[in-house]
Amino acid sequence: MKNFTYHNPTRIVFGKGTTDKLEKEIKDKGNNILLVYGGGSIKKNGLYDRVIKQLVGKNVFELSGVEPNPRLTTAHQGINIVKEQKIDFILAVGGGSVIDCAKAISIGAKYDGDVWDFYTAKAYPTSAVPLGAILTLAATGTEMNGNSVITNLETKQKNGLAGVFVMHPAFSILDPVNTYTVPPNQIANGCADTLSHLYECYFSYPDNTPIQDGLAETIMKTVFDQAFVALKNPEDYDARANLMWCGTLALNDIIPLGKEGDWGCHAIEHVLSAHYDIAHGAGLAIVTPPYMKYLCQFNPKKYKQYAVNVLGIDPTGKTDYEAGLEGIQKTKELLKKMGAPVSLAEVGIGPEKLELMVSEIVTNGNLGNYAKIGSKELLGILKEAL
Ligand code: NZQ
Ligand code: ZN
Repeated sequence: MKNFTYHNPTRIVFGKGTTDKLEKEIKDKGNNILLVYGGGSIKKNGLYDRVIKQLVGKNVFELSGVEPNPRLTTAHQGINIVKEQKIDFILAVGGGSVIDCAKAISIGAKYDGDVWDFYTAKAYPTSAVPLGAILTLAATGTEMNGNSVITNLETKQKNGLAGVFVMHPAFSILDPVNTYTVPPNQIANGCADTLSHLYECYFSYPDNTPIQDGLAETIMKTVFDQAFVALKNPEDYDARANLMWCGTLALNDIIPLGKEGDWGCHAIEHVLSAHYDIAHGAGLAIVTPPYMKYLCQFNPKKYKQYAVNVLGIDPTGKTDYEAGLEGIQKTKELLKKMGAPVSLAEVGIGPEKLELMVSEIVTNGNLGNYAKIGSKELLGILKEAL
């Protein structure tokens, strides 16, 4: 196991009715609050009114309309409000996009240059306006980590910042009831994202890590199981609660501890989203099976472990490689059954820009942990995903 240091300062308030704990959580956070939210789901489902009621007595400023794949320009708007109105605390109410945008605002407001500098490694954030979150969609884990992903439409880049201590929410309220209105396609996308966060670490060296593997396998099994319960009955509290906690645990940085990690599927997906503005989880669902299929030959034993322990594949009479491939095929079938896209064609991506995107992906960083994936291999993987 690799060395690690772990310190997670985010306070989690989890469970039915915890939305009403906002007043208490935010009480001592100052008077000027910037409320950040998305395209309207919180107005439709009543959460907005419930939040506003608990902010009585505070000066509330609003930034609404944060897009899925949040734009740099929207973060700029928020930064201006924070600076002009002397905001003490940012409250993000929404999914990963809203929370990530709020994080960008929190660090950008304490910086004289353009916040994009942080996302292009020209500067590193050391201070931030504090923020809190009410999560409404189980997927990214942003509610309990120091990551943020922002899209710059001008340069066609979707870049992430990871592990920034000052970007951790001070608190995150995780009330599974707030996810009852998440529609089926977003349930599927969210599950694909949660699973991918686990795969990116599970399928990486060092491999003698039974604690990390066991935690990851339990979360994976729970996602595959509970997704179908939530899809059948959107108001099944336990299913929503389990999926929400899975999403948080998959990327609150516990699972990656001691592992090298891969993060190749995420690197690919960010470029797909930058060019085609597709949902993050959808891109991952498409890319993951062919990516796994390519890497299976380099560590078949681990893919067999996944197939057997997570998906219940019977390995009798099969080589590790055969059992591994069967697990990958089943993964694809389950993602499809959930309603996630499993081909680029389903999200309107053809072969036109494949070469361009491959060159951008390989320039951005290393792909593959069990074996290095270069341009040629990546092109093969994306062609298989067509
Ligand atoms: O904008 P509204 O109207 O709120 O609607 C959203 C949006 O259309 C809707 N939604 C959210 N909660 C809902 C709801 N609809 C009904 N009821 C609710 N309770 O769902 C749509 C998608 O929301 P979004 O926030 O974009 O989804 P998600 O949580 O999957 O976030 C995706 C973003 O997070 C980044 C992704 O790249 C993408 O930009 N990621 C962030 C990470 C992090 N910070 O740690 C890690 C991830 O790997 C990921 O990269
Ligand atoms: Zn992700």
